[in-house]
Amino acid sequence: MSSSSSSSPSSELPVKPIPGDYGLPFLGAFKDRLDYFYIEGRDQFFHNRVAKYNSTVFKTNMPPGPFMASNPRVVAVLDAVSFPVLFDTSKVEKRNVLDGTFFPSVNFTGGYRVCAYLDPSEPNHTSLKSFFMSVLASKHHNFIPLFRTCLSDLFIDLEDEIAKNGEANFNTFSDQTSFNFLFRLFCDKNPVDTKMGSKGSKMFDKWLFLQLAPLITLGLPKILNLLEDFLLHTFPLPSVLVKSDYNKLYEAFYNFSGSVLDEAEKFGINREEACHNLVFLAGFNAYGGTKTLFPALIKWVGRAGEKLHRQLADEIRSVVKAEGGVTLSALDQMVLTKSVVYEALRIEPPVPFQYGKAKADMVIQSHDAAFEIKKGDMIFGYQPFATKDPRVFDSPEDFVGHRFVGEQGEKLLKYVYWSNGRETDDPTAENKQCPGKDLVVLLSRLMLVELFLRYDTFTVEARRVLLGSSATIKSLTKATNI
Ligand code: HEM
Repeated sequence: MSSSSSSSPSSELPVKPIPGDYGLPFLGAFKDRLDYFYIEGRDQFFHNRVAKYNSTVFKTNMPPGPFMASNPRVVAVLDAVSFPVLFDTSKVEKRNVLDGTFFPSVNFTGGYRVCAYLDPSEPNHTSLKSFFMSVLASKHHNFIPLFRTCLSDLFIDLEDEIAKNGEANFNTFSDQTSFNFLFRLFCDKNPVDTKMGSKGSKMFDKWLFLQLAPLITLGLPKILNLLEDFLLHTFPLPSVLVKSDYNKLYEAFYNFSGSVLDEAEKFGINREEACHNLVFLAGFNAYGGTKTLFPALIKWVGRAGEKLHRQLADEIRSVVKAEGGVTLSALDQMVLTKSVVYEALRIEPPVPFQYGKAKADMVIQSHDAAFEIKKGDMIFGYQPFATKDPRVFDSPEDFVGHRFVGEQGEKLLKYVYWSNGRETDDPTAENKQCPGKDLVVLLSRLMLVELFLRYDTFTVEARRVLLGSSATIKSLTKATNI
């Protein structure tokens, strides 16, 4: 905890008007969109407004705006204290806000509003989320052996690629690994043995792109900015462009996830709705999430350098040796490995935006002030600012591998928000926290364990891509001391 000030606000804070303005109808939102994507850039957009209003809570428009979103006006919450209002489903409505102020056509999901778009007050949310949690619990025993098998292929492929080309794009191989793991987990079948062949991850990529295009910039030369803005951010891209790929994915899941769909029927969900939800869970929630998380993890750990690599390798190898293998109990003893994973999730949260609509008039607090929110206001949290809040985390912009080690470190876990909830809280059928929370943390630890069982160190080059970071592995140094 930063010693300079407290992270829990006093209840005596003065109530202030929310600073900021939305500008003229249509034009204000259009200007904010250009500022956000092309003129200032994402982080600078928020930094500039925090500085201008001297407040981490302010009014702004969020992209995409016209003509995609009927109302782009939001109240932004950008610090660790105000942000968690978004987790309180008694205060905010989470209906259709997964992607923000716009809602992609249900034609991307077989005509269904899938679980992640439902508010917990909708009965379907309870049954679908309970079904997911039950499926995940039933597959629990398979997480470690299956992901280790997939990782083994990943590292063989990476080594081959480096031998051939002198470097390897980690993202491409990581995407395939995630897809293979998820399909095999839910369908008990290697995806290459289905009609999808090895194209499953690419089909999901296209499907994700068409839904998330309103939030994406391709980083093209300036002269093309307005054209890109018109094509990606003004009208929804039609789902028909990905219909045949989606149908292939759906068919593969439908044909091979029989036991999972049987389970859905026990929760009163018909097989078709369950399967569209399963495709969304696997492709959007899980594949989409790991698509950004794994490269970010590799980027930050790679950049941290040899000293941290040595410490991780020492911890991982000695615990695995003492425990006689890679088990849940072994993973639990790896305090540094655990901390490094939390630190990656803190410094670059894979899903950076959260939204919720105020269910009633309320007062929210930042570190310094209280603000009145009106019923119906859209609250928007930009998570990287909340989890890099300098009033909570020392050196918030630095990747500190040991940050969450020890009693003091563990106290900070409640400020890690990547799962749409605190790291110290658990997902339930009544909240909107990610039901894959424990699985994601487990997979990330396994990624580091397999990496440092095989290699002493590695080097990486990183850059920004559409949905996060890209990591190119430049070298892998084989383990010398196992
Ligand atoms: C790195 C990987 C992942 C990340 C970063 C992630 C993140 C999130 C976030 C932020 C939300 C809340 C979205 C919102 O309402 O604002 C969410 C919801 C959800 N996630 Fe994850 N997730 C990941 C992996 C998974 C996995 C592996 C599964 C299941 C196998 C999963 C299933 C879900 C589902 C079903 C929801 C909707 C929950 C609800 O409606 O209550 N996610 N996830």
